[in-house]
Amino acid sequence: MKYFGTTKINEKNHLEIGGVDLVELGNEKGTPIYIMDYDYLNKNIDEYKNNFISKDFDTEVLYASKALSCIGIYQILNKAGLSVDVVSGGELYTAYKAGFPMNRVYFHGNNKTVDELTQALSLKVGCIVLDNEIEYKLLSELCTKSNKKQKVLLRVNPGIEAHTHEYIQTSKNNSKFGVSIFEKQTDNLIKEINEDQNLEFRGLHCHIGSQIFDNKSFEKAALEMLNYIVDLKNRLGISVKDLNLGGGFGIYYSEGDTSQSIETTMKDLIKAVENILTEKEIRLEKLIIEPGRSIVGNAGTTLYKIGGIKNTFGGIKYIFVDGGMTDNPRPALYQAQYEAVIANKVNGDKKEMVSVAGKCCESGDVLIKNIELEEASSGDFLAVFATGAYNYSMASNYNRIQKPAVVLVKDGNIIDLIERETFEDIVSKDKYLW
Ligand code: LLP
Repeated sequence: MKYFGTTKINEKNHLEIGGVDLVELGNEKGTPIYIMDYDYLNKNIDEYKNNFISKDFDTEVLYASKALSCIGIYQILNKAGLSVDVVSGGELYTAYKAGFPMNRVYFHGNNKTVDELTQALSLKVGCIVLDNEIEYKLLSELCTKSNKKQKVLLRVNPGIEAHTHEYIQTSKNNSKFGVSIFEKQTDNLIKEINEDQNLEFRGLHCHIGSQIFDNKSFEKAALEMLNYIVDLKNRLGISVKDLNLGGGFGIYYSEGDTSQSIETTMKDLIKAVENILTEKEIRLEKLIIEPGRSIVGNAGTTLYKIGGIKNTFGGIKYIFVDGGMTDNPRPALYQAQYEAVIANKVNGDKKEMVSVAGKCCESGDVLIKNIELEEASSGDFLAVFATGAYNYSMASNYNRIQKPAVVLVKDGNIIDLIERETFEDIVSKDKYLW
């Protein structure tokens, strides 16, 4: 068990984050609720800003919005001076509504629609990351129509296999993302984009997967990409100015997760790229990365209330919480493992082995299988850690369950980030037939 940021146990043996007692928070704001540690979130942002820097090239850190996208988050990122990547019209619109400077937005996605590309052009996003030839042609046409010149990167696939869950590996040769650097046609596509008067070709993007612990994987990707960049220069005379290496830096969820600090990971990566550039005698204008999970993941905790407790005939003891796969689909999707404590009696001396299950009508709705917890009673609060990334953003209304609220906590204060959905929200798009 690891506590991050301002998380601690207070004198009442209650869990406390940002100076707020979670029992008081649960009673005041209701459950389930996502709690974001404001100071820790900012510390992660600062660690990226302070360590992803080089004397040899410019650097830019983009927060990958898909990890958690809402107006307040974009306001925090804007204040901190980070850039962002968005992958849909919805994320783009949210950033726009937050007043985020559009020139610091990169637009990703493997199937951007005509509407999304049009929206991106009219909002003047800084850069569009092209995924494939059809998208390139479409964007070029839209630029002609609107008389705009757009900066672009092309997403390529360097065929790196990172050690992570199969569903979140993205760069193997059959990935749906980007075009392969081993494909002959990729040369032609890059040539066309580079010569296109409607576009300003800035360079290449790759992303090798998510929740990766081995920093060598990123260095391998950097080497592969820089080899390819040299190759493009030699064979086609095309200069790549910017290289975006994507995100994917792993975080601690449970024992066995061997994540490195942001500082170490960034310093290692910068050093590796600097060395390769020196060795190959080439220059880059800018190196870009796109961390999502490692900025918000460990800053988030979900607080639930325990309802039923059941001993099954088969021997498993379940404690039931008032949320589940609707607010955290990751255990069901990726067999993700989480750590938790009973927030109102953290240092209880009686421990027992239980499984934590949600309230959805689905057997797979088990948030944690076999965890040793303090002896639970109905009405206790359960805090599940490391839920800041890919939880709210992947939450659903299955069983017509409302999405929880999200709050920031800092110096004893609770600040609303996203309101809890109401039943009215749930039916708000439904139409009566008679
Ligand atoms: N850039 C690109 C192009 C990406 O596809 C992703 C994640 C990132 C950046 C950010 O990766 P991060 O630093 O957050 O690992 N839903 C899955 C994760 C899917 C990640 C998809 N792409 C999960 O819950 O584990």
